[in-house]
Amino acid sequence: MSEASLTPLSARSGGPLTGRLRVPGDKSISHRALILGAMTVGETTISGLLEGEDVLNTAGAMRALGAKVENLGGGTWRIHGVGVGGFAAPAAPLDFGNSGTGCRLVMGAVAGCPVTAIFDGDASLRKRPMRRILDPLEKMGARVLDQAEGGRLPMTLRGATDPLPIEYETPVASAQIKSAVLLAGLAAPGETIVIEQEASRDHTEKMLKHFGAKIVSKPHGDHGRRIVLQGQPELEPANVAVPADPSSAAFPLVGALIVPDSEIILDGVMLNPLRTGLFTTLREMGAKIAEENKRDDGGEDVADLRVSFSALKGVDVPAARAPSMIDEYLILAVAAAFAEGVTRMRGLKELRVKESDRLEATADMLRVNGVKIEIEDDDLIVHGMGTNGVPGGGEVKTHMDHRIAMSALMMGLASKEPVRIDDSAFIATSFPGFVDLMKGLGAELS
Ligand code: S3P
Repeated sequence: MSEASLTPLSARSGGPLTGRLRVPGDKSISHRALILGAMTVGETTISGLLEGEDVLNTAGAMRALGAKVENLGGGTWRIHGVGVGGFAAPAAPLDFGNSGTGCRLVMGAVAGCPVTAIFDGDASLRKRPMRRILDPLEKMGARVLDQAEGGRLPMTLRGATDPLPIEYETPVASAQIKSAVLLAGLAAPGETIVIEQEASRDHTEKMLKHFGAKIVSKPHGDHGRRIVLQGQPELEPANVAVPADPSSAAFPLVGALIVPDSEIILDGVMLNPLRTGLFTTLREMGAKIAEENKRDDGGEDVADLRVSFSALKGVDVPAARAPSMIDEYLILAVAAAFAEGVTRMRGLKELRVKESDRLEATADMLRVNGVKIEIEDDDLIVHGMGTNGVPGGGEVKTHMDHRIAMSALMMGLASKEPVRIDDSAFIATSFPGFVDLMKGLGAELS
């Protein structure tokens, strides 16, 4: 996708959102299932895979590295893996499109194999920092042969012939850094150890265990974890059922909270506690979110969420909660705009290095639609409009960022004037079918 072919879209207020839907499979789990399937000798079947562009690019990369990857239809995929250390040198550059997760996790997986690969992506991904991944991977023996200025893509990486196990403390709470080190550590002898001061999402650890690796995660300090992986395991093929993505569910969920008289049910949403910071925060704001039919799906807690229109109030969101809702601040800011009183979101530095500078982009999205905001250091302060309502009427620049696009559209469904986005194309990176699903609930999108 390029910025040249823009597909604008507008959202306006209409009737309530009502009905029942299942959002697509979790993006984090989908990437990992493809990568671990490819690193296992034998056949892995994945059901409910997210077929968004980010994940399809990871599937393409696994194919280019030698795994057999088949789409069996209906969200079911089969991977015939090559084993730990078994990747072949790809014939062409690996193109990760918009996806930092796909790119960084595959860098880790490649770092443990003696192959050379070129990593590339779209204009957004080419702006994002890769040093945070390369620092530990170089300690493990990988080499950067070529890179764009500032440690950016396109980048040529040579994996280690004899990868070394390391003990590494991540400089920021990042599941991508942690996962890259663990995936490289699979090929190293002995123990690879990752320490994080704030626990980030643990899908890599859980899935490594599911594939038979020996990995132990223990609390570290107040909010952190110490994770110890035994290297060179024989990974066993394991089937993966991907639950519905809470980060995608967040958009219709907030839509239902802010559009008067709405009530929707979101089926089978994953409730991994390291992903549910948004739901905690919204409940503190007064959101009516009921969990029904709680169950286990593919090793994760899931529930159907019944969400009803709610009078929201502003809250103070602690910095320690950021890792569990790092992708959700944009849509939380939309909820905060409709709340009574001030919401302060603390410690948002990492938002500056996502698909766009999400701190500035969130501020712009609200400002152009008549909502007062301030940025103080790494905190975002939103002055909720409450019963006065959100004026709307603005055009939001999406900066090749799917989550800005979906957040701004949700805002438009409840503001006085329609909200327009300059480009809806990037929604397909994480949430294919978003527009039709939302229209099915009654959303006025055109
Ligand atoms: C992800 C980790 C997070 C998140 C991203 C998905 C993952 O990034 O923002 O959308 O699947 O590991 P960081 O680890 O860089 O915070």
